[in-house]
Amino acid sequence: MADVASTSRSHDWSRSAPLLSCENLVAGYTRDIDILRDLSAKAWAGRISCVVGPNGTGKSTLLKALFGFLKPSSGRVLLGDKDITGQPPFRMLAAGLAYLPQRPSLFPHLTVETNLKLGLWHARPKKAVLGEKLERAYARFPIIREKRAQPAGQLSGGQQRQVEIARSLMTDPSIYLIDEPTAGVDPQTSELIYEIVRDLARDLGKAVLLVDQDIRAALAITDYVYVVKNGAVFSEGAREDFGSDTDALVARWLYASGE
Ligand SMILES: Nc1ncnc2c1ncn2[C@@H]1O[C@H](COP(=O)(O)OP(=O)(O)OP(=O)(O)O)[C@@H](O)[C@H]1O
Ligand SMILES: [Mg+2]
Repeated sequence: MADVASTSRSHDWSRSAPLLSCENLVAGYTRDIDILRDLSAKAWAGRISCVVGPNGTGKSTLLKALFGFLKPSSGRVLLGDKDITGQPPFRMLAAGLAYLPQRPSLFPHLTVETNLKLGLWHARPKKAVLGEKLERAYARFPIIREKRAQPAGQLSGGQQRQVEIARSLMTDPSIYLIDEPTAGVDPQTSELIYEIVRDLARDLGKAVLLVDQDIRAALAITDYVYVVKNGAVFSEGAREDFGSDTDALVARWLYASGE
């Protein structure tokens, strides 16, 4: 066919079956105000989908609704073709979802290692299994090994973020919902965190749905972009479709935030 040559790889996969998707999601914190107002998005195994948009537009709310902290009033959340809409977070966890909240979520007075173990408390793992998983976390995050006996609250913001990521990986999730992984983190650690997120998709095959304000850094590792405005998708497409110049996307995003 004539258009085969122009069909990008991304074009192919964006048509392929997602691991996690939501369709026409409506959700909010009170009965009369919808924050998500008909939002549809997808995350594919081995790929990073990124949600960008202005402050207060509902990006974090989307992740909370996907992970079951908020019950959608309509629409569906699908794991493959299985409907998991409105399941509570512990079931989402069991189904293979993990969630990194925007706000700090470690227990600051507990040691780093205890915080990591808490990532698996619900599974009551055997000691040997727990030891193996800790070892894997330490191998991936050397700084965490170094700091494992310290209270988590004594670590820098970027180090704590790494502990949070390591903790969520203890459950071996297939889908990872990540909310602003590098807000308030120094540039060097940010770079490391984006590399980690990229490798979760590229090397470990996880489906990543990344919410980010740092558009340039996030887009560098992203495959598919959703620009969200007022609780709905304003525009979407494979990253290449937004142009190699990310300024174009930023401008488009700013336009989306106008009015
Ligand atoms: N716990 C809550 N109770 C009531 N309203 C909330 C709650 N959390 C968020 N909201 C409201 O929902 C809307 C969307 O918030 P949300 O946190 O999803 O935005 P966001 O796109 O993640 O913004 P940011 O980029 O600042 O993180 C905002 O108007 C906010 O005030
Ligand atoms: Mg947010």
